[in-house]
Amino acid sequence: MNISIFGLGYVGCVGMACLAKQGHNMIGVDVSEEKVNRVNSGQSTIIENGIDALMDYGFKHNLIRATKDYNEAVLKTDISFICVGTPSSDNGHLNLEYIYQTAHEIGEALTKKNTFHLVVIRSTVFPGTNLKVGELIEEISGKKRNSDFAVVSNPEFLREGSAVSDYMNPPLTVLGSSFPIAIEIMKELYKNTNAPIEVVDIEVAEIIKYVNNSYHALKVVFANEIGNICKLLSIDSHEVMRIFCMDNQLNISPYYFKPGFAFGGSCLPKDLKGLTTLAHDLYLSTPVLNAIDDSNRKHIRQVIHQIEKTGKRKIGFCGLSFKAGTDDMRNSPIVNVIEALYGKGYDVRIFDSNVSLSRLIGKNKSVITEKLPHLDSMLQDDLSILTDWAEVLVISYKDKIFKSMSIIPGQIIIDLVRIEELESCENYYGLCW
Ligand SMILES: NC(=O)c1ccc[n+]([C@@H]2O[C@H](COP(=O)([O-])OP(=O)(O)OC[C@H]3O[C@@H](n4cnc5c(N)ncnc54)[C@H](O)[C@@H]3O)[C@@H](O)[C@H]2O)c1
Repeated sequence: MNISIFGLGYVGCVGMACLAKQGHNMIGVDVSEEKVNRVNSGQSTIIENGIDALMDYGFKHNLIRATKDYNEAVLKTDISFICVGTPSSDNGHLNLEYIYQTAHEIGEALTKKNTFHLVVIRSTVFPGTNLKVGELIEEISGKKRNSDFAVVSNPEFLREGSAVSDYMNPPLTVLGSSFPIAIEIMKELYKNTNAPIEVVDIEVAEIIKYVNNSYHALKVVFANEIGNICKLLSIDSHEVMRIFCMDNQLNISPYYFKPGFAFGGSCLPKDLKGLTTLAHDLYLSTPVLNAIDDSNRKHIRQVIHQIEKTGKRKIGFCGLSFKAGTDDMRNSPIVNVIEALYGKGYDVRIFDSNVSLSRLIGKNKSVITEKLPHLDSMLQDDLSILTDWAEVLVISYKDKIFKSMSIIPGQIIIDLVRIEELESCENYYGLCW
């Protein structure tokens, strides 16, 4: 394919060299004359493992050249990759000036082109940018999106230092576009890349890089805080994290990664508190570990607020224990929600097939005596009676019985766990989706 690359920095130069190696005809575009000259003498614009040999290969096979003339680049190619920088502005916001300038340039060039052109955004951009780039190109070129041209979001996942290898072996390829033909062209382009291709909503493709990098940053800080605690206790932190990473059922796994309700139960809150208190006693600052509990409490308050916002007073709770299949209510976050609402005079009823007052013993019983002394009058042992009565239904854990609940027209559902079968209901609110 004939491909132009806008922006010959880390992402653009690596993409250009790798695509040339796969046999594509590449034209690089940059505002920097120095970078253009480098490429035109067969040199890389960046220092990276393996890039010099690839640039040399592409240059010698006449597959790589560069220009400052964006018109020429667009007219002589079928696809333009946008790889320009998206730095932070002085006040910390994302600066999309270079993206929009490039869209402007492509739009201008398209006024002189009569064949379909594909624009691929590789740079890291906020949700909504793909749409805006399409609007700009339409406005400048007078052409029609998804007919004369299309815009695909295809975030780049490479890391500097191993960029060539990362480009050639990505964990996955993410594509988002409102034009199916554009997706087919991109699939053809990546057909030799040994990685799954995920076609997703444009906004998913746009936000994923921010989610990835924020999580990577969190991993670094988490490991460092654990390292600091271990060091003061003369424990080998690298050994601790090695063992931590070996658990790929709960630690390095999709488990716990579903946006939903707050965490609770007898272990997570207790052990988190134990570790942060231990750090405190060692005079260690662990701001990330400390922030976990704050964030969890905020999430519980968000549920209370969501229920209050409905303006209704008859609230039916589906689930009282901290997860399905147990009667454990110790640190069950929904107990805090119910306690707060009951205290504010709401009429509350609860269905939980695992909770029976007569069977409660020990700490589990004292939680209820302390927080919900009137539980007896709230518990409902028939789900259909609860659903007939409530104005608002709050679902706090996943149980298959809730999938087939009969919902009365107008009834509000506040789902804390995402029961997919209920999502089509008229007044359905997912907590964080
Ligand atoms: N560096 C990385 O490891 C990495 C990895 C993945 C994604 N990203 C994202 O990719 C994007 C590019 O990052 P980078 O590190 O390659 O940036 P970079 O600063 O190294 O390169 C950007 C290039 O764009 C050029 N440019 C600016 N305006 C232009 C225009 N109108 N026309 C043509 N060229 C223009 C600049 O001269 C520069 O050479 C950013 O959004 C970044 O967040 C970077």
